[in-house]
Amino acid sequence: MKLFVYHTPELTPPEGVPVCAIAIDVLRATSTIATALAAGAEAVQVFSDIAELMQVSEQWSPDRRIRAGERGGGMVEGCDMGNSPLDCTEERAKGRRLFISTTNGTRCLKRVEAAETVLTGALINRQAVVHHLLTHNPETVWIVGSGWEGGYSLEDTVCAGAIVHSILKGASHNLDELAGNDEVISALALFGQWQARLLDLLHHASHGKRLLRLNCLEDLKYCAQTDVLDVLPIQREPGVLVSHQG
Ligand code: MLT
Repeated sequence: MKLFVYHTPELTPPEGVPVCAIAIDVLRATSTIATALAAGAEAVQVFSDIAELMQVSEQWSPDRRIRAGERGGGMVEGCDMGNSPLDCTEERAKGRRLFISTTNGTRCLKRVEAAETVLTGALINRQAVVHHLLTHNPETVWIVGSGWEGGYSLEDTVCAGAIVHSILKGASHNLDELAGNDEVISALALFGQWQARLLDLLHHASHGKRLLRLNCLEDLKYCAQTDVLDVLPIQREPGVLVSHQG
């Protein structure tokens, strides 16, 4: 297994895709996707474009869908919710499809959707991602941060580092064999520095600050936890993620 970390979708090589791609948007799209599936959502369908989300979800009856739309951290008018994972309760999500469009996370998924296996990762389901990688040992893995409008996001790269850290804890991989690019080492160093203070790091992150201005402290607290959900979102068809079974 060779791992490559890319801080943003724009930094991935223009040609080609890996065997396995992991899209990361800790604040908050991939935390929300994991939470919705853990709460029993039938699937999560992602859209770059809100108008398309509205059009496709219109074909689903209101009791079988939830529309989640976020721009700039706030909720899009006409949707049932924004992008807070805390809104994905069992009562709201169970048996329904979550239709979601966010500023950056959905763009990241779009970039990697042609990979043979597409997963989403966040701190809250890090171990489920690691377990899948260790079990399937894919030849090439891209861990791609969503960033913010093309720029670097601390919280995505620290999550990439958390994944690398956990893989290395197993006996069978060493860093030189595993690392496909220098970003792997820097993500690991970031996680090493902040692993005991992930919530503090999220407070320093520019999108963390944006969410705090929007009164989303509880979201930061939730998204800063590690390994609290044993759920692995996996792409079943382009743009549609389900909970991986087995
Ligand atoms: C995104 O996709 O940019 C984020 O998930 C934004 C957010 O925190 O809602």
